[in-house]
Amino acid sequence: MNILVTGGVGFIGSHTVVELHNSGYTPIIVDNLSNSNEGVLKGLKKITGKDFRLYKADCNDRQALEEVFRENKIEGVIHFAASKAVGESVEKPLFYYQNNVGSLMVLLELMKKYDCGSLIFSSSCTVYGQPDQLPVTEATPKKPAESPYGNTKQICEEIIEDITKTQKSVRAVALRYFNPIGAHPTGYIGELPLGTPSNLVPFMIQSAAGVRGPLTVFGDDYDTQDGTCIRDYIHVVDLAKAHVASMEYLAKNPEQTFDIFNLGTGRGNSVLEIVETFKKVSGAPLEYIIGPRRAGDVEKIFANVAKSKDLLGWQTELSLEESLTDAWNWQLRLGS
Ligand code: UD1
Repeated sequence: MNILVTGGVGFIGSHTVVELHNSGYTPIIVDNLSNSNEGVLKGLKKITGKDFRLYKADCNDRQALEEVFRENKIEGVIHFAASKAVGESVEKPLFYYQNNVGSLMVLLELMKKYDCGSLIFSSSCTVYGQPDQLPVTEATPKKPAESPYGNTKQICEEIIEDITKTQKSVRAVALRYFNPIGAHPTGYIGELPLGTPSNLVPFMIQSAAGVRGPLTVFGDDYDTQDGTCIRDYIHVVDLAKAHVASMEYLAKNPEQTFDIFNLGTGRGNSVLEIVETFKKVSGAPLEYIIGPRRAGDVEKIFANVAKSKDLLGWQTELSLEESLTDAWNWQLRLGS
Protein backbone atom coordinates (compact mmCIF):
# COMPACT_ATOMS: atom_id res chain seq x y z
CA MET A 1 0.00 0.00 0.00
CA ASN A 2 1.56 3.30 -1.15
CA ILE A 3 1.37 6.04 1.46
CA LEU A 4 2.27 9.57 0.46
CA VAL A 5 4.28 11.17 3.26
CA THR A 6 4.53 14.92 2.78
CA GLY A 7 7.37 16.36 4.83
CA GLY A 8 8.81 12.84 4.95
CA VAL A 9 12.38 14.07 5.32
CA GLY A 10 11.52 16.11 8.40
CA PHE A 11 11.79 15.11 12.04
CA ILE A 12 8.47 13.34 12.61
CA GLY A 13 8.05 12.47 8.93
CA SER A 14 11.33 10.53 8.70
CA HIS A 15 10.59 8.48 11.83
CA THR A 16 7.14 7.72 10.44
CA VAL A 17 8.68 6.54 7.16
CA VAL A 18 10.63 3.95 9.19
CA GLU A 19 7.55 2.76 11.05
CA LEU A 20 5.46 2.57 7.86
CA HIS A 21 8.19 0.51 6.22
CA ASN A 22 8.41 -1.76 9.29
CA SER A 23 4.65 -2.37 9.04
CA GLY A 24 4.72 -3.30 5.36
CA TYR A 25 3.60 -0.01 3.79
CA THR A 26 5.46 1.73 0.96
CA PRO A 27 6.17 5.35 1.86
CA ILE A 28 6.40 7.82 -1.04
CA ILE A 29 8.18 10.91 0.22
CA VAL A 30 7.48 14.48 -0.87
CA ASP A 31 9.50 17.28 0.74
CA ASN A 32 10.63 20.73 -0.34
CA LEU A 33 13.63 20.50 2.05
CA SER A 34 12.80 23.92 3.50
CA ASN A 35 13.64 22.77 7.03
CA SER A 36 15.46 19.49 6.38
CA ASN A 37 18.11 18.03 4.15
CA GLU A 38 18.52 15.11 1.80
CA GLY A 39 21.14 13.45 4.05
CA VAL A 40 18.19 12.06 6.02
CA LEU A 41 17.66 9.55 3.19
CA LYS A 42 21.05 8.01 4.01
CA GLY A 43 19.94 7.58 7.63
CA LEU A 44 16.71 5.98 6.46
CA LYS A 45 18.69 3.57 4.30
CA LYS A 46 20.95 2.61 7.21
CA ILE A 47 17.93 1.83 9.37
CA THR A 48 15.73 0.08 6.82
CA GLY A 49 18.15 -1.05 4.12
CA LYS A 50 15.93 0.69 1.60
CA ASP A 51 16.40 3.56 -0.83
CA PHE A 52 13.31 5.71 -0.56
CA ARG A 53 12.40 7.85 -3.52
CA LEU A 54 12.18 11.54 -2.68
CA TYR A 55 10.07 13.88 -4.76
CA LYS A 56 11.59 17.30 -4.14
CA ALA A 57 8.42 19.32 -4.36
CA ASP A 58 6.43 21.91 -2.51
CA CYS A 59 2.90 20.82 -1.66
CA ASN A 60 1.65 24.18 -2.87
CA ASP A 61 2.97 23.31 -6.32
CA ARG A 62 -0.09 21.62 -7.73
CA GLN A 63 1.60 20.40 -10.89
CA ALA A 64 4.54 18.84 -9.07
CA LEU A 65 2.27 17.18 -6.52
CA GLU A 66 -0.04 15.89 -9.22
CA GLU A 67 2.91 14.18 -10.85
CA VAL A 68 3.38 12.14 -7.67
CA PHE A 69 -0.26 11.05 -7.74
CA ARG A 70 -0.01 10.24 -11.45
CA GLU A 71 3.13 8.15 -11.06
CA ASN A 72 2.04 6.21 -7.98
CA LYS A 73 -1.26 4.75 -6.91
CA ILE A 74 -1.51 6.65 -3.63
CA GLU A 75 -3.84 4.91 -1.18
CA GLY A 76 -3.28 7.05 1.88
CA VAL A 77 -1.69 10.37 2.78
CA ILE A 78 0.12 11.48 5.92
CA HIS A 79 0.46 15.24 5.72
CA PHE A 80 3.35 16.55 7.83
CA ALA A 81 4.63 19.25 5.49
CA ALA A 82 4.06 22.60 7.20
CA SER A 83 5.89 25.46 8.85
CA LYS A 84 5.86 25.31 12.63
CA ALA A 85 7.77 28.17 14.21
CA VAL A 86 5.34 30.08 16.37
CA GLY A 87 7.41 33.31 16.45
CA GLU A 88 8.08 33.28 12.71
CA SER A 89 4.35 32.87 12.07
CA VAL A 90 3.70 36.15 13.88
CA GLU A 91 6.25 37.87 11.60
CA LYS A 92 5.00 36.25 8.39
CA PRO A 93 1.35 35.34 8.83
CA LEU A 94 0.47 35.25 5.14
CA PHE A 95 3.32 32.88 4.44
CA TYR A 96 1.99 30.57 7.16
CA TYR A 97 -1.58 30.65 5.83
CA GLN A 98 -0.37 30.04 2.29
CA ASN A 99 2.09 27.34 3.20
CA ASN A 100 0.03 25.41 5.77
CA VAL A 101 -3.56 25.97 4.63
CA GLY A 102 -2.85 26.35 0.89
CA SER A 103 -0.94 23.08 0.69
CA LEU A 104 -3.72 21.19 2.44
CA MET A 105 -6.23 22.47 -0.10
CA VAL A 106 -4.06 21.35 -3.03
CA LEU A 107 -3.67 17.96 -1.40
CA LEU A 108 -7.40 17.51 -0.76
CA GLU A 109 -8.18 18.42 -4.34
CA LEU A 110 -5.71 15.84 -5.65
CA MET A 111 -6.94 13.20 -3.21
CA LYS A 112 -10.41 13.67 -4.66
CA LYS A 113 -9.21 13.59 -8.26
CA TYR A 114 -7.12 10.45 -7.73
CA ASP A 115 -9.65 8.72 -5.51
CA CYS A 116 -7.41 8.52 -2.46
CA GLY A 117 -9.50 7.99 0.63
CA SER A 118 -7.41 8.21 3.83
CA LEU A 119 -5.72 11.26 5.33
CA ILE A 120 -3.74 11.54 8.54
CA PHE A 121 -3.16 15.18 9.44
CA SER A 122 -0.45 16.57 11.76
CA SER A 123 -2.23 18.82 14.19
CA SER A 124 -1.05 20.16 17.50
CA CYS A 125 -2.03 20.57 21.12
CA THR A 126 -1.62 24.26 20.41
CA VAL A 127 -5.32 24.22 19.37
CA TYR A 128 -6.26 23.98 23.08
CA GLY A 129 -4.42 27.19 24.07
CA GLN A 130 -4.21 27.32 27.89
CA PRO A 131 -6.97 24.89 28.83
CA ASP A 132 -9.17 25.49 31.87
CA GLN A 133 -8.81 21.88 32.97
CA LEU A 134 -5.96 19.39 32.80
CA PRO A 135 -5.28 16.90 31.39
CA VAL A 136 -6.93 17.85 28.09
CA THR A 137 -9.17 15.41 26.30
CA GLU A 138 -10.11 15.67 22.63
CA ALA A 139 -13.42 17.17 23.79
CA THR A 140 -11.72 20.04 25.63
CA PRO A 141 -12.89 23.23 23.91
CA LYS A 142 -10.42 24.88 21.57
CA LYS A 143 -9.31 28.39 22.49
CA PRO A 144 -8.70 31.23 20.05
CA ALA A 145 -5.24 30.66 18.60
CA GLU A 146 -2.32 32.61 20.09
CA SER A 147 -0.44 32.73 16.77
CA PRO A 148 -1.03 32.39 13.03
CA TYR A 149 0.75 29.01 13.27
CA GLY A 150 -1.79 27.80 15.85
CA ASN A 151 -4.62 29.22 13.76
CA THR A 152 -3.47 27.30 10.67
CA LYS A 153 -3.80 24.05 12.67
CA GLN A 154 -7.34 24.98 13.78
CA ILE A 155 -8.35 26.03 10.26
CA CYS A 156 -6.89 22.90 8.68
CA GLU A 157 -8.74 20.66 11.14
CA GLU A 158 -11.98 22.48 10.28
CA ILE A 159 -11.41 22.25 6.53
CA ILE A 160 -10.76 18.52 6.82
CA GLU A 161 -13.83 17.96 8.97
CA ASP A 162 -16.01 19.88 6.49
CA ILE A 163 -14.67 17.93 3.54
CA THR A 164 -15.20 14.57 5.20
CA LYS A 165 -18.83 15.50 5.96
CA THR A 166 -19.75 16.15 2.36
CA GLN A 167 -17.16 14.26 0.34
CA LYS A 168 -17.67 10.80 1.72
CA SER A 169 -14.78 9.35 -0.26
CA VAL A 170 -12.23 11.05 2.00
CA ARG A 171 -11.88 9.95 5.62
CA ALA A 172 -9.42 11.51 7.98
CA VAL A 173 -7.76 11.52 11.36
CA ALA A 174 -6.24 14.63 12.92
CA LEU A 175 -3.48 13.88 15.40
CA ARG A 176 -2.85 16.50 18.04
CA TYR A 177 0.81 16.20 18.94
CA PHE A 178 2.04 17.31 22.32
CA ASN A 179 5.83 17.85 22.42
CA PRO A 180 7.72 15.37 20.22
CA ILE A 181 11.37 14.92 21.20
CA GLY A 182 14.14 12.31 20.94
CA ALA A 183 15.60 10.58 17.92
CA HIS A 184 15.76 7.12 16.43
CA PRO A 185 17.56 4.77 18.90
CA THR A 186 20.10 3.92 16.17
CA GLY A 187 21.15 7.59 16.09
CA TYR A 188 20.82 7.64 12.29
CA ILE A 189 17.93 10.09 12.14
CA GLY A 190 16.82 12.82 14.53
CA GLU A 191 15.81 16.43 14.74
CA LEU A 192 17.98 18.92 12.89
CA PRO A 193 16.21 22.22 12.32
CA LEU A 194 18.05 24.59 10.01
CA GLY A 195 19.48 27.56 11.91
CA THR A 196 19.03 28.26 15.61
CA PRO A 197 16.46 25.88 17.08
CA SER A 198 13.46 27.48 18.74
CA ASN A 199 12.29 24.30 20.47
CA LEU A 200 13.66 23.28 23.85
CA VAL A 201 15.34 19.91 23.26
CA PRO A 202 17.17 20.72 20.01
CA PHE A 203 18.50 23.92 21.56
CA MET A 204 19.47 22.15 24.78
CA ILE A 205 21.44 19.34 23.10
CA GLN A 206 23.21 21.77 20.79
CA SER A 207 24.06 23.93 23.77
CA ALA A 208 25.44 20.93 25.69
CA ALA A 209 27.50 19.98 22.62
CA GLY A 210 29.01 23.47 22.50
CA VAL A 211 27.29 24.43 19.24
CA ARG A 212 25.20 27.11 21.00
CA GLY A 213 25.62 29.29 24.04
CA PRO A 214 23.80 28.63 27.32
CA LEU A 215 20.17 27.61 27.25
CA THR A 216 17.74 30.31 28.32
CA VAL A 217 14.86 28.95 30.38
CA PHE A 218 11.91 31.11 29.43
CA GLY A 219 10.47 32.19 32.78
CA ASP A 220 10.55 30.69 36.28
CA ASP A 221 7.61 32.57 37.75
CA TYR A 222 4.77 30.40 36.44
CA ASP A 223 2.29 28.79 38.79
CA THR A 224 3.98 25.36 38.66
CA GLN A 225 6.06 23.34 41.15
CA ASP A 226 9.38 24.94 40.11
CA GLY A 227 8.02 27.99 38.30
CA THR A 228 8.81 26.73 34.77
CA CYS A 229 6.28 25.69 32.10
CA ILE A 230 4.89 22.18 31.91
CA ARG A 231 4.58 20.15 28.70
CA ASP A 232 3.93 16.55 27.70
CA TYR A 233 7.13 15.34 26.00
CA ILE A 234 6.69 12.28 23.78
CA HIS A 235 9.38 10.14 22.10
CA VAL A 236 9.22 10.64 18.33
CA VAL A 237 9.29 6.87 17.69
CA ASP A 238 6.17 6.41 19.83
CA LEU A 239 4.57 9.30 17.96
CA ALA A 240 5.51 7.81 14.58
CA LYS A 241 3.89 4.49 15.52
CA ALA A 242 0.61 6.29 16.18
CA HIS A 243 0.45 7.23 12.49
CA VAL A 244 0.56 3.59 11.48
CA ALA A 245 -2.12 2.83 14.11
CA SER A 246 -4.24 5.66 12.67
CA MET A 247 -3.97 4.28 9.12
CA GLU A 248 -5.06 0.91 10.45
CA TYR A 249 -7.90 2.55 12.40
CA LEU A 250 -9.28 4.14 9.21
CA ALA A 251 -8.93 0.85 7.34
CA LYS A 252 -10.77 -1.11 10.05
CA ASN A 253 -13.54 1.44 10.58
CA PRO A 254 -14.98 2.31 7.18
CA GLU A 255 -17.94 4.13 8.78
CA GLN A 256 -15.60 6.55 10.57
CA THR A 257 -15.32 9.76 8.54
CA PHE A 258 -13.33 12.07 10.83
CA ASP A 259 -11.70 11.63 14.20
CA ILE A 260 -9.22 13.42 16.43
CA PHE A 261 -6.65 11.94 18.81
CA ASN A 262 -4.28 13.35 21.38
CA LEU A 263 -0.75 12.00 21.11
CA GLY A 264 1.15 12.43 24.32
CA THR A 265 2.29 10.42 27.31
CA GLY A 266 -0.32 11.72 29.74
CA ARG A 267 2.47 13.15 31.95
CA GLY A 268 3.61 16.72 32.34
CA ASN A 269 7.24 17.76 32.95
CA SER A 270 8.64 21.18 33.68
CA VAL A 271 11.47 22.76 31.71
CA LEU A 272 13.81 22.34 34.69
CA GLU A 273 12.87 18.66 34.97
CA ILE A 274 13.86 18.25 31.33
CA VAL A 275 17.16 20.01 32.02
CA GLU A 276 17.91 17.89 35.10
CA THR A 277 16.91 14.61 33.43
CA PHE A 278 19.06 15.48 30.43
CA LYS A 279 22.06 16.23 32.64
CA LYS A 280 21.57 12.94 34.46
CA VAL A 281 21.29 10.71 31.36
CA SER A 282 23.95 12.46 29.27
CA GLY A 283 26.48 13.39 31.92
CA ALA A 284 27.07 16.44 29.72
CA PRO A 285 27.65 19.88 31.16
CA LEU A 286 24.74 22.18 30.42
CA GLU A 287 24.72 25.81 31.34
CA TYR A 288 21.44 27.59 31.58
CA ILE A 289 20.19 30.98 32.57
CA ILE A 290 16.73 32.03 33.59
CA GLY A 291 15.28 34.55 31.16
CA PRO A 292 11.96 36.31 30.80
CA ARG A 293 8.81 34.51 29.73
CA ARG A 294 8.45 33.85 25.99
CA ALA A 295 5.44 35.57 24.42
CA GLY A 296 2.62 33.15 23.63
CA ASP A 297 3.80 30.29 25.90
CA VAL A 298 1.05 28.51 27.80
CA GLU A 299 1.78 27.73 31.45
CA LYS A 300 0.94 24.04 31.49
CA ILE A 301 -0.56 21.43 29.26
CA PHE A 302 -0.55 17.66 29.12
CA ALA A 303 -2.73 15.07 27.47
CA ASN A 304 -5.42 12.67 28.46
CA VAL A 305 -4.61 9.78 26.12
CA ALA A 306 -7.45 7.40 27.00
CA LYS A 307 -9.13 7.80 23.61
CA SER A 308 -5.95 6.97 21.67
CA LYS A 309 -5.43 3.94 23.86
CA ASP A 310 -9.02 2.70 23.48
CA LEU A 311 -9.59 3.33 19.78
CA LEU A 312 -6.14 3.26 18.21
CA GLY A 313 -4.82 0.59 20.56
CA TRP A 314 -1.77 2.80 20.93
CA GLN A 315 0.13 4.18 23.87
CA THR A 316 3.64 5.38 24.50
CA GLU A 317 6.29 2.83 25.44
CA LEU A 318 9.41 4.94 25.79
CA SER A 319 10.36 7.02 28.82
CA LEU A 320 11.59 10.59 29.13
CA GLU A 321 15.04 9.21 29.97
CA GLU A 322 15.07 7.18 26.74
CA SER A 323 13.89 10.19 24.74
CA LEU A 324 16.68 12.40 26.06
CA THR A 325 19.32 9.66 25.74
CA ASP A 326 18.36 9.12 22.10
CA ALA A 327 18.36 12.86 21.41
CA TRP A 328 21.84 13.15 22.93
CA ASN A 329 23.22 10.14 21.01
CA TRP A 330 21.92 11.71 17.82
CA GLN A 331 23.68 14.97 18.65
CA LEU A 332 26.92 13.12 19.46
CA ARG A 333 26.78 11.29 16.12
CA LEU A 334 26.21 14.60 14.32
CA GLY A 335 29.15 16.14 16.10
CA SER A 336 31.51 13.26 15.30
C1 UD1 B 1 4.73 24.76 20.71
C2 UD1 B 1 3.34 24.20 20.64
C3 UD1 B 1 3.33 22.94 19.85
C4 UD1 B 1 3.93 23.22 18.50
C5 UD1 B 1 5.35 23.71 18.67
C6 UD1 B 1 5.93 24.05 17.33
C7 UD1 B 1 1.95 24.68 22.59
C8 UD1 B 1 1.52 24.24 23.93
N1 UD1 B 1 2.83 23.88 21.97
O1 UD1 B 1 5.47 23.90 21.49
O2 UD1 B 1 2.03 22.47 19.70
O3 UD1 B 1 3.91 22.08 17.70
O4 UD1 B 1 5.33 24.90 19.45
O5 UD1 B 1 7.22 24.58 17.45
O6 UD1 B 1 1.53 25.70 22.08
N2 UD1 B 1 11.82 26.68 26.25
C9 UD1 B 1 12.84 27.28 26.97
N3 UD1 B 1 13.97 27.65 26.29
C10 UD1 B 1 14.12 27.45 24.95
C11 UD1 B 1 13.07 26.82 24.23
C12 UD1 B 1 11.93 26.45 24.91
O7 UD1 B 1 12.72 27.48 28.16
O8 UD1 B 1 15.17 27.83 24.39
C13 UD1 B 1 10.61 26.26 26.97
C14 UD1 B 1 9.33 26.89 26.46
O9 UD1 B 1 9.09 28.10 27.13
C15 UD1 B 1 8.32 25.81 26.77
C16 UD1 B 1 9.09 24.51 26.67
O10 UD1 B 1 10.45 24.87 26.75
O11 UD1 B 1 7.88 25.93 28.09
C17 UD1 B 1 8.87 23.79 25.35
O12 UD1 B 1 9.05 24.72 24.31
P1 UD1 B 1 9.12 24.26 22.78
O13 UD1 B 1 10.01 23.10 22.65
O14 UD1 B 1 9.41 25.48 21.98
O15 UD1 B 1 7.67 23.74 22.48
P2 UD1 B 1 6.24 24.43 22.76
O16 UD1 B 1 6.35 25.89 22.74
O17 UD1 B 1 5.64 23.77 23.93
